[in-house]
Amino acid sequence: MSARIIDGKAVAEEVRAGVREEVARLKQQGILPGLAVILVGDDPASKTYVRNKERASKDAGIHSEVYRLPADTPEHEVLRLIGELNARPEISGILLQHPVPGHIDERRCFDAISPEKDVDGFHPVNQGRLLIGERCFVPCTPRGILHLLDHTGVELKGKRAVVVGRSNIVGKPVALLLLSRHATVTICHSRTQDLAAETRAADVLVVAIGKARAVRGDMIKPGAVVIDVGVNPEDGKLVGDVDFESAVEVASAITPVPGGVGPMTIAMLLQNTVEAARRQAGLE
Ligand code: GUN
Repeated sequence: MSARIIDGKAVAEEVRAGVREEVARLKQQGILPGLAVILVGDDPASKTYVRNKERASKDAGIHSEVYRLPADTPEHEVLRLIGELNARPEISGILLQHPVPGHIDERRCFDAISPEKDVDGFHPVNQGRLLIGERCFVPCTPRGILHLLDHTGVELKGKRAVVVGRSNIVGKPVALLLLSRHATVTICHSRTQDLAAETRAADVLVVAIGKARAVRGDMIKPGAVVIDVGVNPEDGKLVGDVDFESAVEVASAITPVPGGVGPMTIAMLLQNTVEAARRQAGLE
């Protein structure tokens, strides 16, 4: 039996069409959502991500500004730009592309973004609100993963969800979201003693460790739903953290790489930006 392939590209397109309609409605009320993206340095993957974010914003009718800063930009310059963008009413959302060059304290920069404009959901206020279950900006990739699971009709209540990876961007927030949906959640990481034993217990398995093909089919429970967050370059292609060929034979549903989680991240960024604009206009 071969798993159902979860088509993130198609689901993301649906979300983006909804955002486009919402932006058109807001424009009729005199509200124009605006997204500012800051890219420091010239990491090739980040350049591609930022280009895609810019294109997607424009395509949705969102006002887009991209600040491409040289790799040696001092931290105080980045902080000054963030301060400027915080103060501009036509900018609803601000995103600093991760990672930034080593001489910049990324956390200090994320903390400087106004929580009301933090469409990445990386500010401690939003991360704290997520922890206690209050309304907040949810980080885009975890939000996209939940949307994919819902769209696929996956029941989470009472199910065993295992998250492999504990980053602040994906692992921790997706675990909290799964918990808020009443899954029994385990978080695994590089020091987990018997990873295969943990992953084999999962009804829903989310893998975000940044290691190509690290989770093979024999580590997956038959019938599990597998969400692969990895994007690893290999021989001129992109492969996930899950070994797709063996996993697809065991899982009941699985996201491909590319075309699974990736497109959802951008769609959720657009949705967060529209939400930011609505809130700033006092609509929510
Ligand atoms: N780099 C990789 N993913 C992300 C993301 O979701 N947001 C930001 N700002 N940087 C990233």
